[in-house]
Amino acid sequence: MNKSAEIINYTKERLSHDFSGHGIDHAKRVAAMARRISEDMDVDQEVIFAAAYLHDTVDDKVVSDPEAALKNLQDFLLEIDYTNHQVNEVVAIIENMSFSKGLSEKVNLSLAGQVVQDADRLDALGAIGIMRTAYFGGNHGHPLHDPMIPPIDYTNKADYRKGSTVINHFYEKLLKIADTMNTEIGKQEAQRRKRFMEDFLKEFYNEWDIS
Ligand code: ADP
Ligand code: NI
Repeated sequence: MNKSAEIINYTKERLSHDFSGHGIDHAKRVAAMARRISEDMDVDQEVIFAAAYLHDTVDDKVVSDPEAALKNLQDFLLEIDYTNHQVNEVVAIIENMSFSKGLSEKVNLSLAGQVVQDADRLDALGAIGIMRTAYFGGNHGHPLHDPMIPPIDYTNKADYRKGSTVINHFYEKLLKIADTMNTEIGKQEAQRRKRFMEDFLKEFYNEWDIS
């Protein structure tokens, strides 16, 4: 098996039990979008591919022991002949690219990291983003919407992880990240998807407020 096939298989195995919107389909879209964003960039495509596919396999949302998962991931990449330097870069990206990480500290990402972060963030937006967010909310027992619960401006990961309602998540994260993209392609596509979500919210409130 070549390196890409090994990485896809590894990811499938790790994410097969996820029903919160972080399955293999998400990983595949992130990798494809990262590739598209970085086509004309001077970046290591092997690093981008691995970080895009593997980013959620060490996440506390998905695995119970993120530290052990990270060690396992490092060993795996070395086994399939990623160099030490590449493994370090993949790990630095995965550990620093998340929205929750950025809540409490300012993180610096390499160009490859900025690409993968944009690709992951785009998958939180648009039609797919809306579906994933509702799916996550159901998986976590959150209500769809409650006008009496205001959105929260989170400043740390622990509070952010508790979450509130599906609709609040649009204001707590989704609409915010559209304005924090790194790359030109990311910025343009994020604005297009953000407009779609704003239209969706208008329609949602129209239907919700019927009396
Ligand atoms: P990160 O890994 O960047 O910190 P998140 O934890 O925000 O990303 O999770 C990624 C996706 O999971 C979000 O874009 C959203 O679709 C879903 N998600 C995460 N937290 C919530 C939540 N509290 N309510 C609804 N969806 C959520
Ligand atoms: Ni992700």
